[in-house]
Amino acid sequence: MDRKGNQIPNNQYQTKKEYHRIETQKLKNEMEAPNYLQLIGDIEGKSVIDLGCGDGYYTRIFNLKKGSSVVGVDLCSELIDIAIEMGPSNIKYYVADCQFFTLAGQYFDIVAAEFLIQHATSLEMLQNFIRTAYGLLNSNGRFVGITRNMKLTPENYHFQHNLGGRQS
Ligand SMILES: C[S@@+](CC[C@H](N)C(=O)[O-])C[C@H]1O[C@@H](n2cnc3c(N)ncnc32)[C@H](O)[C@@H]1O
Repeated sequence: MDRKGNQIPNNQYQTKKEYHRIETQKLKNEMEAPNYLQLIGDIEGKSVIDLGCGDGYYTRIFNLKKGSSVVGVDLCSELIDIAIEMGPSNIKYYVADCQFFTLAGQYFDIVAAEFLIQHATSLEMLQNFIRTAYGLLNSNGRFVGITRNMKLTPENYHFQHNLGGRQS
C-alpha cells in the first residue's frame, strides 16, 4: 500500500524498498529538478561548482547543459566514487569538506548547493558553508542553493517516514 492506501502494483516493483527508491527518484526528476534548474537559469558556457554534489545527480545535468567547466565536491568518498563511475570524465570531482573548500585561482559563475546547507549543525558550520560558496564565486557569480524547510526537525522527518509506512 502507498501513503494514500493504494495498492502497489506487484508487477511494477519487486519490493517496497524498490517502490520507495523509484518513486522518490520520480519526485526528484519531475518536481524538484525542474524547479531547481529554473532557479539556476541558463548555464551554457558558464563554470559551475556543485557543493555537496552527492552522487553527481545535478553535476551531470549541469554538464549536459554545456557548462564550460563543471566541478562537484562532497565529503562522502563512496558517493564521489559513484559519481566518477557514472562519468563523464570531463567533470572534476573532489572529496572534501565544503566548510573549507577552495580551488587555487579558480572561481565560478555559479556555485550550486542542493540540500547541503541543511547539514550545518551549528551557526559556525553554516557560516563556513556560506564563506566557502562566497569564496568560490567570480565577481559576477551567483550562489543558488535549496534546502529543506528548517522548521522540519529530524523528529518530523522520522514522523514522515512512519507515515509513509514503506520500510520493507
Ligand atoms: C541530501 S544530499 C544532496 C546530494 C545532491 N546535492 C543532490 O541533490 O542529489 C547532501 C549531500 O551533502 C553532503 N555533505 C554533507 N555535509 C557535507 C560537508 N560538510 N562537506 C561536503 N559535503 C557534505 C552529503 O555527503 C550528501 O551527499
